[in-house]
Order: sequence, then C-alpha cells, then structure tokens
Amino acid sequence: MNHTDLFAHRAQGMKASEIRELLKLLDQPDIISFAGGIPDPAYFPRDAFAEAMQFALSEATAGTALQYAASEGYVPLRAWIADHMAKLGVICEIDNILITAGSQQALDYLGKLYLDKNDTALVEWPTYLGALGAFNAYEPKFDRLNAGENRTEIEIADDAKSQGGRVKFSYLSPDFANPTGKTLTRTERLSVLTQAEALDIAVIEDGAYQSLRYMGEDIPSILALEMAEKGEINACRTIYCGSFSKTLAPGLRVGWVVAAKPVIAQMVLLKQAADLQTATINQIAVNHVARAVFDPHVAGLRKVYGARLNAMLSALKTHMPQGVTWTSPEGGMFVWVTLPTSMSGKDLLEKALMQKVAFVPGAAFYADGATTNTIRLNFSMSDEGVIDKGIARLANVIRATSTA
Ligand SMILES: Cc1ncc(COP(=O)(O)O)c(C=O)c1O
Repeated sequence: MNHTDLFAHRAQGMKASEIRELLKLLDQPDIISFAGGIPDPAYFPRDAFAEAMQFALSEATAGTALQYAASEGYVPLRAWIADHMAKLGVICEIDNILITAGSQQALDYLGKLYLDKNDTALVEWPTYLGALGAFNAYEPKFDRLNAGENRTEIEIADDAKSQGGRVKFSYLSPDFANPTGKTLTRTERLSVLTQAEALDIAVIEDGAYQSLRYMGEDIPSILALEMAEKGEINACRTIYCGSFSKTLAPGLRVGWVVAAKPVIAQMVLLKQAADLQTATINQIAVNHVARAVFDPHVAGLRKVYGARLNAMLSALKTHMPQGVTWTSPEGGMFVWVTLPTSMSGKDLLEKALMQKVAFVPGAAFYADGATTNTIRLNFSMSDEGVIDKGIARLANVIRATSTA
C-alpha cells in the first residue's frame, strides 16, 4: 500500500535535516569535520555521571528512579534550576519550571501550543534549523525578526493577517546563536521586547548556549530584562528554554522551560499527552551531577572551547582569501562564514568533501532557504591543530572555486 497518500498534510512539509543526512557521510577516515553541532565527548563529566547513576540505582533511590513520575519534572532538579535561573536574574518558583526531553521538545510543545496553521512565527534570518523543523509541523508562516528592519509592527501584523493567521511569537537565541554565533546587545534584546509588546505576542528565548561564554561580559537574558521591568515572572511574555545538552551531556535529553504559570500548566498537559514525563532516572542523574560539578565543569569547558574558538578565528584570518567574511562569536559552538555572493555553500561542500573537510551549508538555516552563500563552522569538536589544518584546506577549496 502507499502510506504516503495517507499522511497528514503537515507531514508533507517535513524533510530530513540537511545536517543529519550529511553527518552520515562523515565516517570516512581523515576527514576534518566542522559540520557537527555537538559537544566534545572527551569532556563529558563521565565520572560524575557514573557516580550519579550508581546513586540513582541504589536501594534507597531505585524505586523512584525506575518509576513513573510527575509530568512537571523531578522536584529537586527544578529547585536546582530555580537557583540557577536566580543567578541569571530570573526569580521563579518550581511551578514556573517544566522539565522537558531536551530543549528541542520544548520548541515542539511551544509550536503545538501557539501555532495554528498559517499563523506567523518571527524568527532570525538565519535561525536554528531544529526550531524551523519543530515549528514547521504546525504549518506556520515565518517572517523576519529583525530589529534593524524598518517595517512597523502594524505592517508585520498586516502581513501575517494576509497570510491567513496572526503573529504568535518571536523565537530567538540571543547568546551565541546557532548558526551565526552572534549575541544580541542589551539594546537589541530590549527592542525585541518592545516589538513583542506592540504586537502582543510571546517571546521564545532559546538559551541553549547561554552558559558557554568565552570572552566579554554576560548580558542579561531577555526574560531577566523583562522581569526587571515587570517585577514578576507571571507577568512576563518571555518563555525561556534551557538545556543541559551543551553543558553536561545531550544523551540524557534533559532540558527545561521557565515561564509564567499558565504557560507551564498548559505545557504540562501537552507533555502528559505526548510522553507523560522526562525519564526519571535521567533527571535524578542530572540533578546529582549539576549539584556536584556544574560550575567547575562549565568553567573547564569554557577554557577548552574558548581556545578552539580563538584557534578558528585566527586560522580564518590567516588562511581565508579576500571576499570571505565571518562572525566573531564570544561563545557557543559556531562561526558563520559568508562566501562571495556567486558561491554556493552546497556546491562548495561537494568540493570540500573531496579535500576531506566538511561543514554545513547555510541555506537550510533560512526559513525561505534563499540565501546560499553562507556556511556554518563548528569549533567545539576539533582541537586547535586540527582546526588550523581544516581551515587551511577549506580556504584552498574556496580559492580554487573562486578562480574556476
Ligand atoms: C539553538 C539550539 N536550541 C536547541 C537545541 C536543542 O538542544 P537539546 O534538545 O539537546 O536541548 C539545539 C541543539 O543543537 C540548539 O542548537
């Protein structure tokens, strides 16, 4: 039988992630890959997790760790997150926190909660591919979240109306964004809030990389800025999505959402319907590890990844030909490179793979897929020597392509 004919309309827009398809090609020997977007497994806090799992499976705890639990999440972990958020200027109660299976699940739930078909989501251009994928399942339209643009809120709202819905939220990652590595200034964050107030929409703040700053000063999160203004989390429109994936380990799939209570209460209902709860044993382990080593562990990661970021920026400066530009991130895992306008990231990848260097072409990160002369480079997975060698290879491929 032909199952495809029976699939719902929403499935037609779903396509395999370019990144995941590409990662399959990377098992060749000697390839230098800047394509991944993942933490270096050499720095997982393995001993702390071994100890935590032993604790979770001890006679006193195993009954809880292996049992069903509340959809909201493990209370001691939510209490740790409340303390963590307080250090970031967000005062909240555990009832403002939902534990999710990674922040990816939070993005899916938020799409489900807010987006009717043809509603508009404002996103950065480019933005996190996984957010586009999560929201796409709910058949929205995307429009640009662009503080520098001179379209008025009325025009943005009218455009959404002419698409058959209304603007529901803006989504952004203000710290060291995936894919650009860019960080929004305090003024830009405030203008996102002002725009959201004018449109009366929610703001989804993706804080996946917030802890990974290697240089410069911390800037308060959008939720912290809004809280400072409104004094009370339950009056806030910003929904903050956090994750342990980039700081501790992604394999346990533990993330969180912090928001006003009515939003969390509704997301709990979605979670009950979708997967009941995030794995109890993983939440217990993450709580144990976070309490034991979070701050020193993240300080160690900052040193390692910071050195890799510096190595990548200086290799780009040394090797890249004229006409190629790149961002200068202060944290995160990515540098975003703009190629000469005539060059396609996708075509370049085919040539680069032959020279044993890989990256992700940029087009997939744009909601309209229209900009093709960009590429994303990951620096968290390779040490400094490898980074220099890989960037030199890539620069040669670009040079050969420009003169071809
Ligand atoms: C910006 C951003 N948000 C969210 C995620 C999802 O992470 P997780 O579900 O592991 O928390 C990622 C993963 O790469 C990401 O880059």
